[in-house]
Amino acid sequence: MKTTVLVVHPNIKQSRVNAALAKGAADVAGVKVRYLYDLYPDGKIDATAEQAVLEKADRIVLQFPMYWYSSPALLKQWLDDVLAYGWAYGDKQALKGKELMLAVTTGGGEEFYQKDGLAGHTVAEFLVAYETIASYLGMNYGKMFVTGNCLNISDDEIAAQVPRYQAVLSA
Ligand SMILES: Cc1cc2nc3c(=O)[nH]c(=O)nc-3n(C[C@H](O)[C@H](O)[C@H](O)COP(=O)(O)O)c2cc1C
Repeated sequence: MKTTVLVVHPNIKQSRVNAALAKGAADVAGVKVRYLYDLYPDGKIDATAEQAVLEKADRIVLQFPMYWYSSPALLKQWLDDVLAYGWAYGDKQALKGKELMLAVTTGGGEEFYQKDGLAGHTVAEFLVAYETIASYLGMNYGKMFVTGNCLNISDDEIAAQVPRYQAVLSA
């Protein structure tokens, strides 16, 4: 299984959780980690290059911190530019049969992301568009890997989360 992990964090040098998860992911056989903000600091995405990477992968993991109940902005740009008509949908369905999976970090914890919690919705509900995108493109939507409470998470908890992420990526 060839997996490409697209890390979308605007400030990975200041990141504790995504940086650790991405580093751990890179140690898993068959996994390639790419940092979207490093690749495109000017925000101009090379859609052809991105499509070529995706065509070689069996599984595409979008890894990002939750920003305003959504993703950092460059991921939206990436979706708009890369998942183009005539390639991702329309005459061709280049990603059909591949797996799409999200690996999301959130500041809020488990209690926050409940129907009766302060957020009023689960993380999966906030990010439901990705599930619909996967279905629209003929992809299989994998189980989301969520790391919560990231504003208060301890170094030990981060260290414990890395092998869990690696196990998911190894499966
Ligand atoms: C601009 C911005 C918006 C954020 N919005 C949310 C949010 O909507 N929900 C949430 O749970 N955390 C939110 N956070 C917290 C981040 O998700 C959290 O800091 C991040 O997941 C930690 O990962 P890192 O150590 O890799 O940076 C936000 C942080 C920033 C900087």
